[in-house]
Amino acid sequence: MSSSARYQLTLDLEQFLAEYWQKKPLLIRQGFAQFVDPIDADDLAGLAQEEEVDSRIVSHTDKTNWQVRHGPFDDFSQLTETDWSLLVQAVDHWIPDSATLLNAFRFIPSWRIDDLMVSFSMPGGGVGPHLDQYDVFIIQGQGKRHWRVGEHQPTQAHCPHPDLLQVKPFKAIIDAELLPGDILYIPPGCPHEGYAIEPSLNYSVGFRAPSQRDLFNGLADYMVDNELGEQRFSDAGRQALFSHHGELSTADMQTLKASMRALLEDDALLYPFLLAQLSTPNRTVAIDTPEPALASEDVASLLAEGHSLTWHSGVKALYCNKPALFQPGELYINGERFDSKLSVNDKQILADNLQFDAERLALTDNSSLFTEVLTTLVNQGLLFEE
Ligand code: SIN
Ligand code: CO
Repeated sequence: MSSSARYQLTLDLEQFLAEYWQKKPLLIRQGFAQFVDPIDADDLAGLAQEEEVDSRIVSHTDKTNWQVRHGPFDDFSQLTETDWSLLVQAVDHWIPDSATLLNAFRFIPSWRIDDLMVSFSMPGGGVGPHLDQYDVFIIQGQGKRHWRVGEHQPTQAHCPHPDLLQVKPFKAIIDAELLPGDILYIPPGCPHEGYAIEPSLNYSVGFRAPSQRDLFNGLADYMVDNELGEQRFSDAGRQALFSHHGELSTADMQTLKASMRALLEDDALLYPFLLAQLSTPNRTVAIDTPEPALASEDVASLLAEGHSLTWHSGVKALYCNKPALFQPGELYINGERFDSKLSVNDKQILADNLQFDAERLALTDNSSLFTEVLTTLVNQGLLFEE
C-alpha cells in the first residue's frame, strides 16, 4: 500500500463542505477506520528534545492554575502521572510518516493546509477551554480523550495563562469520548477543550487563513523586494486653498484610496505576489540537501528502479494558469518563482502531486526536462527519496 493511501478518510465531502466547513463543528466517528498511529509518545518526546522543534508542555494543578513550559526539553523525569500534555508543532516536517495524515485532507487546496501538531496527554492532560483562529481536524490516536466543543463565539478576554488564549466555561454542542480513529472538526472561533481519559495521542491538522493584515504586510515586503508600487500621489489641477490648511480633504483621501485600489486591481502585480506569499511556508522548513549532489541520470535511474520522490512536508508548490497573465502558467515553490521550460501540463503534475515515480513520469510531456527539474528540487532538499 502506498503511504499516501494509508489514511483513507470516511466522510461525505460534499455534505461536509456544504454544512460544516467553516460553519459548525462535527464529530466524525471512525473517520479513519482501524487507525494506526504514525508515531508514538517516545518519538514525540525525542522531537521535543530538539532545538529546532517548537514544543511545549502544558500542565495544571486545577482548572485555574496552568503552567506552560517551552522546549527543547532534556528531561521528562519530573513529570507526574496525570494532568499534563506535550504538544509539538509541525511534526510532519520532521517525521515523513506523519505527513501522510495531511494527505487525507487534500480535498481542501494544499495552500490552505498548514501543519500537523501532535500532542501526547496523560490522564487529565489538556490545554483547557480555548478558541483557535483556524480550522482544525483533531484526530484521536492511541488512548481515549473526552472532548467538548461549543458554538462559535467572539473571542473573550479571559486569561488564566497568557500563552493559552483560554476562554470562559462554555455550553457544549458536542460532548464525547473520542476513540482511536475518531475525528473532531472544529471551525475557527468554536471553543473546545479535551482532557485525556487514558494516555492519548492527538493529531491536529491545522489550516492557514491569512488575515488582511498578513496579506498587506506580505504585499508591502513583496513590493519593496521587487521595487514595485512606486507610483506617487499626484494632484495636478488643484484649486488654491484660502482656509483649512490643516484638513486632509475627502477628495484627497479618495485620490489616495484610488491609487491604493489601482494597485490591488493590478492582477499582474497581485497574482504573482499571492503565489509567492501562499507558497511560503508559515514556519521554516528544515532542509537536508544530498551530498554529493545528484545528476539527472541518477534521478532517472532511481525512478526506473522503482523508487519515488516525495515533497518535503511543508514545502508548497503552487501554480496558476490564468492565460492572459501567465503563458504558459506560473509555478511558485517555497515562496519563489520557479523558472523552467516545463509545459503547463507538467507544471500542474509537479504541483498537484505529492510523489513522483516512473508511472507519473510517463504522464509528463517532456520526461527528460521533468527529470531535470526533479533533480534540481532533490538537490535543493525540497524533494527526497523515500
Ligand atoms: C491538543 O491536542 O491538546 C490541542 C488541540 C487543540 O485544541 O487545538
Ligand atoms: Co484548539
